[in-house]
Amino acid sequence: MFATTGNSDSRASGKGTLYQERVNPQWVRLLEVLQMNARYTRCEGTELFTEDGRRILDFLSGYCVHNLGHNHPAVVEAIKDELDRRGPAMLQSHIPQLAGELAEKLCWHAGGRVAKAFFCSSGSEGVEAAIKFSRARTRRSGLLYAEGAFHGLTCGALSLMGDPFWREHFGPMLPNTEAVPFGNLAALELKLATKQFAAFIVEPVQGEGGVRVPPPAYLEGVQTLCRRHGTLLVADEVQTGLYRTGPFLGSHHYQFEPDMIVLAKALSGGLIPSAALLMSDEVYESVYGSIARAIVHTSTYSENGLAMRAGLASLEALESERLGERALAAGDYLRTRLREALAGYEMVKEVRGLGLLNGIEFQAPQKLGLRVSFEAFGKIHPGMFGQVVVMQLFRRGFLTQMCGNNFMVLKAAPPLVVKEREADEFVRAVTDVVDRMHFSSTFWSEALGLARRVIMK
Ligand SMILES: Cc1ncc(COP(=O)(O)O)c(C=O)c1O
Repeated sequence: MFATTGNSDSRASGKGTLYQERVNPQWVRLLEVLQMNARYTRCEGTELFTEDGRRILDFLSGYCVHNLGHNHPAVVEAIKDELDRRGPAMLQSHIPQLAGELAEKLCWHAGGRVAKAFFCSSGSEGVEAAIKFSRARTRRSGLLYAEGAFHGLTCGALSLMGDPFWREHFGPMLPNTEAVPFGNLAALELKLATKQFAAFIVEPVQGEGGVRVPPPAYLEGVQTLCRRHGTLLVADEVQTGLYRTGPFLGSHHYQFEPDMIVLAKALSGGLIPSAALLMSDEVYESVYGSIARAIVHTSTYSENGLAMRAGLASLEALESERLGERALAAGDYLRTRLREALAGYEMVKEVRGLGLLNGIEFQAPQKLGLRVSFEAFGKIHPGMFGQVVVMQLFRRGFLTQMCGNNFMVLKAAPPLVVKEREADEFVRAVTDVVDRMHFSSTFWSEALGLARRVIMK
C-alpha cells in the first residue's frame, strides 16, 4: 500500500496548517490579522456556519458567484446526478449535447446579437477569448477598456486593467491597450476615431471599480460610437450577469446589444468552475469559419458535463424562484434602508447600486479630530481603513469586502435569496460600525493597533 497523506486541511504541523505551508501563507496571515480566519463547516443560502458556533451572513457572495445562495439543492443534485450517470467526460472527441442546451438557453436569455457560445472555466479566460475573437473579426490589434475596470488577472485580461496594484512586476502587458474614463463618451470617440481598436470592453456596472452605475444614455452612446467606428462591443457581465442586478444581464437595463458577452461566476451555482463567451454569428464565423479552424480556440475543461449540468440547473432555479425580481425588490429595499440609516454621517458619501450589486462609498472626514485619525491610516496603507470596516462587520456576523479597485467602497451584494430581516440585520450592523467610526475613539485606536500588526508582519 502507498502511504496516504489524509484529506484534512486542518492537519497541523509545527508551523500551522498544510494550506499555510504549501499554498499561500501570506493569505493566512492577512485573514488572521483581520480576525477573519474562520473555519466554516456548513454553508446554506445566505448563511455560513463556523466550527466555533457562529453564524455569519454572506453579503459578498464570493464576488457575485452565489446568486442562488450557497449549495443550492437543485445544483447539488444535478451535479450528483451527472456523476452517477458515468457518461463521457473530457473525451475531447465527441459532441457534448449539454453544452448545446446551455448555449441555447444563454443566448435566448441574452437576446440581441449573440447566437453562439464558447465555454471556458473562468471570467479571465472568457475575456482572453474576447480579445482574440475581436482581433480575428476586425483584423485590428488595439483594445480599449474603461478606467477602474476589473477584467481578470491573466496577462491579456490584466492588460485591460489600469490599476498598478495588480500589474506591478508582471509586465510587459499586451501592447496597444488603452483606457478611457468610464462614463465619458467624448474621450471614447477620440480613441475610436483612430480605427485602431478591435474592441471596447466594459462592465455595465463597474463592480470592483466601486459599484459605478453608468450615467444615463452612456451605454447607448457607447454602442452608437462603436458601431460607427467598426469597433466591437464586449460586455463583461461576469459580476452583473445571471440576474444580479435584476434582469438576466446588466446590459438589459439599457438599450445595449453587445457583440460579445462574458459570463462566469454565478453561471454554475458557485460549485463548479464555468464561464461562457456569448458572441454574434459574425464573430463566430471570423474565428471558426472552416472545418480546418473548428478547434482553433478551445480549452480542456470547457464543455465538461458537470459545469454544463450545474449551469442548466442554476438557470432553472434562478428562473423558477424569480430571483431577478427578488434582486430588484431587495436591492431597492436595502439601498433605501441604508440611505435612511446612514444619512447625516459625514464619512458616508453615497449608497448606490442596481439590484443586489450595491456599494457604500466612504469619504475622508472634515472634522479635525476624525481627519487626523483617518489620515494617519491612509499613510500606512490606502486600503487599511476599508479593512477595518470589513473586520468590524465580520465581528458583527457579516462577510463583506471593499471593492478591489476602490478601497473606499464597501460592497453589499448578498445572495439573491436574501431575506428582508437579513437586510435589516445588515443595515443595523453597518450603522453601528459607522456610528462608532464617527463617535468612538476605540474604533480608531483598535484600528491603529491592527495597522501596526500588519506592518510588523
Ligand atoms: C467583472 C469581472 N470580470 C472578470 C473577472 C475575472 O473572473 P475570474 O476571476 O473568474 O477569472 C472578474 C473577477 O472578479 C470580474 O469581477
